[in-house]
Amino acid sequence: MNLNRRKLLSWFGLGWLASLLPSSLIGCSEANTPTASAPTSTSAPESVAAAPSGNFKEIGTVAQLDKDGALVSSDKKIAVVRNPNDATKVLAVNATCTHKGCTVAWKSANKEFVCPCHDAKFAADGAVRQGPADKPLQRYAAKIENGQVLVSA
Ligand code: FES
Repeated sequence: MNLNRRKLLSWFGLGWLASLLPSSLIGCSEANTPTASAPTSTSAPESVAAAPSGNFKEIGTVAQLDKDGALVSSDKKIAVVRNPNDATKVLAVNATCTHKGCTVAWKSANKEFVCPCHDAKFAADGAVRQGPADKPLQRYAAKIENGQVLVSA
């Protein structure tokens, strides 16, 4: 009788260990291994939809964007404009010039960002149009939701 109880308990112990095995293996799989990979390219992403999702914050309203031609975050670090190639979408960039760090301004007439310090020019997606800056403005994921312009920076 005592031996049967010991045997039974040992079987329960093995069963418990076996039940943990699949979740342990999943936890160690390559797919769940965190990576420290960062974007290696400094070029602007191809599309906003391809950008990773994150915590979006409200920069302003669509009405304000359409009235002013651009939205600038309260800290002046993020600028958002309508995508000239698809007006239903918005593009968000870091407004800090990649040359020496001045803040670029959106010029609606030419649909470009212009740096007031040394006259570098950038397309709406942040690509360099004219030096001396040789790197694009950093892009952020942006979207329109319920009349609000949201940016993940
Ligand atoms: Fe912008 Fe020099 S800081 S062009």
